[in-house]
Amino acid sequence: MSRSAHPAGPRHADVLPEGHYSAPADDLNALDPKVWAHTVGRDADGVVTVGGIAVTQLAEEYGTPAYILDEADFRDRARAWRTAFGNDADVFYAGKAFLSRAVVRWLHEEGLNLDVCSGGELATALSAGMPAERIAFHGNNKSPEEIERAVRAGVGRIVLDSFQEIVRVAHIAQSLGTRQRVQIRITVGVEAHTHEFIATAHEDQKFGIPLADGQAAEAVRRALQLDGLEVIGIHSHIGSQIFDMSGFEVAAHRVVGLLRDIRDEHGVELPEIDLGGGLGIAYTSDDDPREPHEIAKALTEIVTRECEGARLRTPRISVEPGRAIVGPTAFTLYEVGTVKPLDGLRTYVSVDGGMSDNIRTALYDAEYSVALASRTSDAEPMLVRVVGKHCESGDIVVKDAFLPGDLAPGDLIAVPATGAYCRSMASNYNHVLRPPVVAVRDGAARVIVRRETEDDLLRLDVG
Ligand code: LLP
Repeated sequence: MSRSAHPAGPRHADVLPEGHYSAPADDLNALDPKVWAHTVGRDADGVVTVGGIAVTQLAEEYGTPAYILDEADFRDRARAWRTAFGNDADVFYAGKAFLSRAVVRWLHEEGLNLDVCSGGELATALSAGMPAERIAFHGNNKSPEEIERAVRAGVGRIVLDSFQEIVRVAHIAQSLGTRQRVQIRITVGVEAHTHEFIATAHEDQKFGIPLADGQAAEAVRRALQLDGLEVIGIHSHIGSQIFDMSGFEVAAHRVVGLLRDIRDEHGVELPEIDLGGGLGIAYTSDDDPREPHEIAKALTEIVTRECEGARLRTPRISVEPGRAIVGPTAFTLYEVGTVKPLDGLRTYVSVDGGMSDNIRTALYDAEYSVALASRTSDAEPMLVRVVGKHCESGDIVVKDAFLPGDLAPGDLIAVPATGAYCRSMASNYNHVLRPPVVAVRDGAARVIVRRETEDDLLRLDVG
């Protein structure tokens, strides 16, 4: 999903095998600020530090593997999004990227709203004190129980995803004697993943109601007639890890077109439009993400221009970044267990975690970078594949990268940009225990999600 795919030069090995990898950096000890959290650096001994704490100390105290999250960086990024969009727009952090009660509190303090997509995420948000009116509830198949819980809690909006759900939410709200604020999620026929930009093909997926054939207009027609619903806007989410704004441009054009049709047919100007999340981050040095202020400016201009063209009042815009806020703020700290050179191919470096703590490489062919973290080294770079400890050959964490040739068991290595969709998609495959999330700030570390124990595993196994 990353864009990095440059062949390496022949500089550091006689023969390099086929693969998608960048040439090794001139200095393997350097930490590219694009892919590392803001407070990451190296101390005088060459040990990687975050928030002023050495990873060797973190490993000793909390063990490995561990997700190490830079709280100051998380707050900075959350605030940057909030500031970029200002008071006339709303930023909903997408909790699916990574959610914990500490994260909910940080978001609350930094003035962000929260997007949840399951009863579990809703429970986490409410238990950490996020005001219900600042929560948006998503999902293509919310259960009646989840809907009832969300309505009773008073969530600010439920994003409706199908004709059946329109009726379902309306009935539940009405039976509870209330009117639920809702947005209708539509598919605009655009999907954008990084460079790919495929128009029209993507009504063929499970989310949303297609704009095509007037289905979205029909959904709005029905929703407007139901007493249990207050239709506040239209929602569109076009994809993931997007660098190019043209997909949003087409989406905004089509969503505003629908708002215009709604005004013409019903005399109603819906007050909100949500353009979803999906903004890309740097997983490797070859990725060049945009800054929140550039994104805010581009999206606001697009929507304003489209609305002027349609003679509509500009609706309140909201966005739902997940990855772009939490992704870069964390790295995974592993201990090297074995180093296995395969002649003429590459060196396999096995770590004490793997596909159970980062499924993204196996699932999406995602690209990551990696650095030796417990020391520096001047040894020649070697081409490595960082693999996990699972009984599966697809158990790859970093497919192709360079690490110093003197790497040895016991070294700590760190994989940056694992804050999003790693802990939240972690599993217990092979009954491997899920790592903790350790938040570091101003020289202090604390566990915000603890490491699983064998007791946790056995507690679920009731014999
Ligand atoms: N809003 C909606 C309606 C979404 O479906 C998503 C992501 C987001 C916001 C947040 O997108 P973000 O800004 O985090 O890209 N597991 C995949 C990503 C799945 C994203 C699903 N929806 C991965 O690891 O890349």
